[in-house]
Amino acid sequence: MPMLGFGTLIPDATETMNAVRYALEAGFRHFDCAERYRNENEVGEALQAGLTAGGISREDIFVTTKLWNTNHRPERVEPAFEGSLKKLRLNYLDLYLIHTPFAFQPGDEQDPRDQNGNVIYDSGVNLPDTWKAMERLVDGGKCRAIGLADVTLDKLMHIYESARIKPAVVQVEAHPYLPETELLEFCKNNGITLLAFAPLGHGIKPGPLEDPVVLAIAARVGKTPAQVLLAWAIQRGTAVLTTARTAARVRENFDISPLSDDAMDEINRIQTRQRFNNVVNTGIPGFIPRVDPGAL
Ligand SMILES: NC(=O)c1ccc[n+]([C@@H]2O[C@H](COP(=O)([O-])OP(=O)(O)OC[C@H]3O[C@@H](n4cnc5c(N)ncnc54)[C@H](OP(=O)(O)O)[C@@H]3O)[C@@H](O)[C@H]2O)c1
Repeated sequence: MPMLGFGTLIPDATETMNAVRYALEAGFRHFDCAERYRNENEVGEALQAGLTAGGISREDIFVTTKLWNTNHRPERVEPAFEGSLKKLRLNYLDLYLIHTPFAFQPGDEQDPRDQNGNVIYDSGVNLPDTWKAMERLVDGGKCRAIGLADVTLDKLMHIYESARIKPAVVQVEAHPYLPETELLEFCKNNGITLLAFAPLGHGIKPGPLEDPVVLAIAARVGKTPAQVLLAWAIQRGTAVLTTARTAARVRENFDISPLSDDAMDEINRIQTRQRFNNVVNTGIPGFIPRVDPGAL
């Protein structure tokens, strides 16, 4: 799996298609998708066009997509997988992830809510049973590897211990404000790749992009703060996803170079701690809105 991947969490359909094209042109060969992003069709179309235009073969790219929370019941896993494959115009996937460990009420409504607006969870299925259905996809030959996203170390260990096919990848939020050191250690010791999302803190400011340590290193080495954060992620042994909508930013985020040990140490010593996405606690996707201190 290429350690630097391009994420397709882009709400607008045209922007999704443009960004995927820019990413292929810039050199990205790893694409992260999800049924929940509701744009697998656009990603599939852009990938197909980009591969043809660039003379790039399917085997040269690595494509991931994710099983959404409403499809955790074992009998729903294969149809969901096949649906994603079709939309992405692919005949195999490199990686399929369980998007979150939370099962929602099964059905076509991706965000099932009760009258009070609360998510309707599904107590009729457990994660190990969903995992077994994921393992059967690997047996079937159209899915090369499986993994989990938005899990805590406890949940990962539970699946890891009982799994016949071990998780290959764990995708979680990670950046200098949320280094996930314990999870990374477990992954390294057990041959699992930790794939970091929101490496720039989802671009939320204030955040890692404006951290004084990151700004100072960027100025010193002649790189941008985004390039420093992406380089840090890879150099500490995680894979990382980045997402940008303009061609210039896509190229910027692909153009990263190694940091000195001193720079790595400085970033590792940052004390600020902040999670930007609460999905790991609820299964509900979305970045935590910033509270305007003036409104308190
Ligand atoms: N498993 C999950 O639950 C989960 C959750 C979230 C994300 N993900 C995956 O991870 C991917 C990346 O997550 P993310 O979008 O939060 O990543 P991110 O890279 O931390 O944040 C992206 C934001 O940063 C901005 N940005 C990008 N490049 C920049 C640069 N060079 N300088 C300044 N700002 C820059 C973007 O702005 P513009 O859009 O204006 O370019 C965008 O607003 C997603 O696309 C998705 O595939 C997974």
